[in-house]
Amino acid sequence: MISELNIVLKNLLLALTYAYFFISVGIFANELKQGEKLYNDNCAACHRVKSFTVGPSLVEISKKYSKEKEKSFLNWTNNPGKINPKTIQMPAMSHLGDPALKMVHKYVLHATKSVKETKSRHGFTPFKRPEPKYPYVKRSYMPFASPAAIAVVLNDQFSLSWDASIKRLRYGFSTANVFFSGESALDKAEKLILYKETSSQFWPFINDEQIEYQGYKLKDGTPTFMYQAGNIHITERIIQGPKVRSFVRQFTVKGSNSGAVIDLSHDGNVTIMPNKGVLERNQLTLTEKELAQFSITVTMND
Ligand code: HEC
Repeated sequence: MISELNIVLKNLLLALTYAYFFISVGIFANELKQGEKLYNDNCAACHRVKSFTVGPSLVEISKKYSKEKEKSFLNWTNNPGKINPKTIQMPAMSHLGDPALKMVHKYVLHATKSVKETKSRHGFTPFKRPEPKYPYVKRSYMPFASPAAIAVVLNDQFSLSWDASIKRLRYGFSTANVFFSGESALDKAEKLILYKETSSQFWPFINDEQIEYQGYKLKDGTPTFMYQAGNIHITERIIQGPKVRSFVRQFTVKGSNSGAVIDLSHDGNVTIMPNKGVLERNQLTLTEKELAQFSITVTMND
């Protein structure tokens, strides 16, 4: 008797378990179906499973809003914020109600099971500049220089401003990959300047005014500036120095029939090393022979 009752009870339990299982699967399947419909009617205009369209893909969404994050999913859909500046703000979906939104969430998770995003997530990938090759020369707005100034970008940390209007190097500045922008940032820009020439006259034998600028030619990315005053022809090549924040100016002077004292006065904590002549209190004395070809290495002191 007892064992028969036991068997009946066992079967009943089993039946109940099955029933519960099938009913719950049924409910779940039904919820998914409803979720899918709700999604198609209310979200699919802007969201796709695998790719970014107006809004992020469902794959992307399911990563951020996993099963445990149902509450944040409801928070967002009821009251969306603004994250990606490249797209519109999502309209609120609060009119659907939380039970419906929960079904959409279930559907989103289900639809993205083992699905990988295919198309590029263009809306979410920040624009990357192509890696610049150093050194290079560029016309660029630079404060305290004329519009004719040319930037000699030696590397991602240090650049020079060579001003064609005064036919002279003006200053060296810290680039750190960011160029000066806008007059509004003048005081900020001033802090970036690490070295500045202050002599009123660089070449003693020719007045800056008399110098005729003849342009520059490029070799290995760095410029050789060419200028002339009367019979005197000067070329100045600028190349990377031995340290990140250092540069070498290689000069040739043709047509001078004397030596010269070159004024290297400057602002900035630097070390100046000429390869020829005598340097004393920023005055570089060169004989006629030395003047014909010499170089100056300027290195920022850390
Ligand atoms: C009119 C277009 C549009 C509709 C319709 C729309 N969305 Fe969005 N959704 C967006 C946009 C655009 C974003 C990205 C917003 C941003 O980054 O500022 C977004 C982002 C999301 C995010 C991600 C938020 C985050 O934290 O990154 C979720 C989740 C989301 N939507 C869910 C839904 C659901 C669910 C529906 C439908 C019930 C829906 N969206 C309907 C446009 C839409």
